[in-house]
Amino acid sequence: MSSDAKLQASARAMALREAIGRHDHAYYVLDAPTVSDAAYDDLMRELNSLEAAHPDLCTPDSPTQRVGGKPASGFAPVRHGRAMLSLANAFSEADFADFNRRVCERLGREDVAYVAETKLDGLAINLTYENGTLVSAATRGDGEVGEDVTANIRTIGAVPLALKGAPRLIEVRGEVYLPHEGFEALNRAQLASGAKAFANPRNAAAGSLRQLDPAITRARPLTLYCYGIGQVEGGELPQTHFETLAWLREMGCRVSPESQRVNGQAEALRYYREIEARRPHLGYDIDGVVFKVDRLDWQVELGQVSRAPRWAIAYKFRPEERETRVLAIDVQVGRTGQLTPVARLEPVFVGGVTVTNVTLHNADEIARKDVRVGDMVVVRRAGDVIPEVVGVVLDKRPPGTVPFEMPQAVPDQADQQQIQALIHFASRRAMDIEGLGDKLAEQLLRSGLVQDPADLYALSLEQLVSLERLGEKSAENLLRAIDLSRTTTLPRLLHALGIAEVGEATARQLASHFGDLDALAEASVAMLEEVPDVGPIVASKIAAYFADDEHRERVHRLRTLGVHWPAVTRAPADNLPLTGWTVVLTGTLESMGREQASEQLAALGAKVSGSVSKKTSLVVVGADAGSKARKAAELGIPTIDEERFSALLAAPAEVLQTLRP
Ligand code: IVH
Repeated sequence: MSSDAKLQASARAMALREAIGRHDHAYYVLDAPTVSDAAYDDLMRELNSLEAAHPDLCTPDSPTQRVGGKPASGFAPVRHGRAMLSLANAFSEADFADFNRRVCERLGREDVAYVAETKLDGLAINLTYENGTLVSAATRGDGEVGEDVTANIRTIGAVPLALKGAPRLIEVRGEVYLPHEGFEALNRAQLASGAKAFANPRNAAAGSLRQLDPAITRARPLTLYCYGIGQVEGGELPQTHFETLAWLREMGCRVSPESQRVNGQAEALRYYREIEARRPHLGYDIDGVVFKVDRLDWQVELGQVSRAPRWAIAYKFRPEERETRVLAIDVQVGRTGQLTPVARLEPVFVGGVTVTNVTLHNADEIARKDVRVGDMVVVRRAGDVIPEVVGVVLDKRPPGTVPFEMPQAVPDQADQQQIQALIHFASRRAMDIEGLGDKLAEQLLRSGLVQDPADLYALSLEQLVSLERLGEKSAENLLRAIDLSRTTTLPRLLHALGIAEVGEATARQLASHFGDLDALAEASVAMLEEVPDVGPIVASKIAAYFADDEHRERVHRLRTLGVHWPAVTRAPADNLPLTGWTVVLTGTLESMGREQASEQLAALGAKVSGSVSKKTSLVVVGADAGSKARKAAELGIPTIDEERFSALLAAPAEVLQTLRP
């Protein structure tokens, strides 16, 4: 290519970069777009293709490079040129007055001029520009060393990639944040994609900035306000902080329009009150006002204590308060049995999070505040503090509310999972406790009489008759059924425990492999994997089950409360009388249930199947057998009746003799 053409391309690229930079600044920083989206896109496209044709024209401050960064493999540490300090807090006018008095005394002045700024609730960032080009962006970190988030920061439109008229080196400090609108849009997108919503804009901004893939950060509508400088080399410094802000604006940085010069305490407090009133309408989160001594020479004179300058203070807003309705008051039971009333609230966004539950601590507290179901209450949340009910809005109390009474007994603490677990435990194929159905299981749990399945074996007649709708006769029957279930089998018990992934078949395999419960409970994942049909996932679930103290305790209590089972004779599975036999049961057996029959067959090594096929070796035909018996006949599979089945169980070898062709 001729050097002429090269020069032309270079000039054109520079013009495009400059134009796009100007449009970005107008759009992101000044909030006053200067071109249509289409015209802007045309410029970008032209620059992109020029850079593609002449890669050497692609400079790091080219607007095409906002999106060009590669995913980081982590965030490297970067040392700030000058430490990033933090701010001391004031929480009241008195605190602020103290601060002002100390400043005035140290400077020997009656009045001091401050710059008042909003305290943005986002993430502090340090942008380093060398010869006007953004070279690095870092989080605050510990104030000395932060994390390199340059690739992500570049994607933020409000961050200038190049500064106009900048000194040789300048650190620009500011806050990256997510405006409310962007936050809501982001959360809608999160929920639509099945991801979790962010609790508040600050968390969302932090999460967005810490993405390893800058493409994700780019999709998040983050922005930035600059509020100060760090290290500066090769340029003249302004005299005041207010001038510093103006300088930042001139160089192209986005600076909050809310920053103002205030003279003395009275003006400072007026600013504070005004901003507090406007806070809900700003469109982004702030949590206070920052006051900085305006004159930089005075800042130097005042110096700092530990990590906070003596020349600045963050005067925080009172914690935000909101009204909402009490929908219910639940009582939670702690592990040690203490009762905690919890108000369930109509969701309310307060102090940066959505609050739906708030603790009422204890009976005294609830009585003192007289919080009732149906009440409007004032909820407060400050910073990271847990939300609290400030009080009831009595004017808004609806008619017919009643004072809340703390339950004396253990309240309803059964959740659906517990109920299902107990129903399963007692079911026919598990511990087989006759009469313990859905209703009763729920009642036992809700009453608190049973908290763990093992508690069933400790129930007394008095306790049972205390239950509503359970007469003495039924209570006696239940106790008898519970007692009968004490004598069980290892496969039944294992099935009853409800170990994830362990159904009846696996329970049987485990029982015959390990022979007793203790060996199983101690088995490693590798040992468990040796059991037929037990893969790594099932094995780890079983191991995890027995690693849990609560489960070990359950097994221990079952034993001490008299639950017992015969040890299963461990025999190599390939050495049992019915090994290799696939048996199908059909029709009704008089002497035993289907499950028992299956168990006994399995104990003899047979595989019990539900349907007749060519692979079936034997069909046991009970009363009223139907299609399966017919199919067996069609396929020429041997069948036996119940009498011969009993004989088979008693003396398998002999009966098998008669079956083999
Ligand atoms: S000035 C020495 N100005 O507050 C001055 N900080 O507690 C240090 N912040 O880490 C910071 N808005 O994240 C300053 N207008 C503002 C601010 C502000 C928010 C944050 C910033 C900083 C923290 C200090």
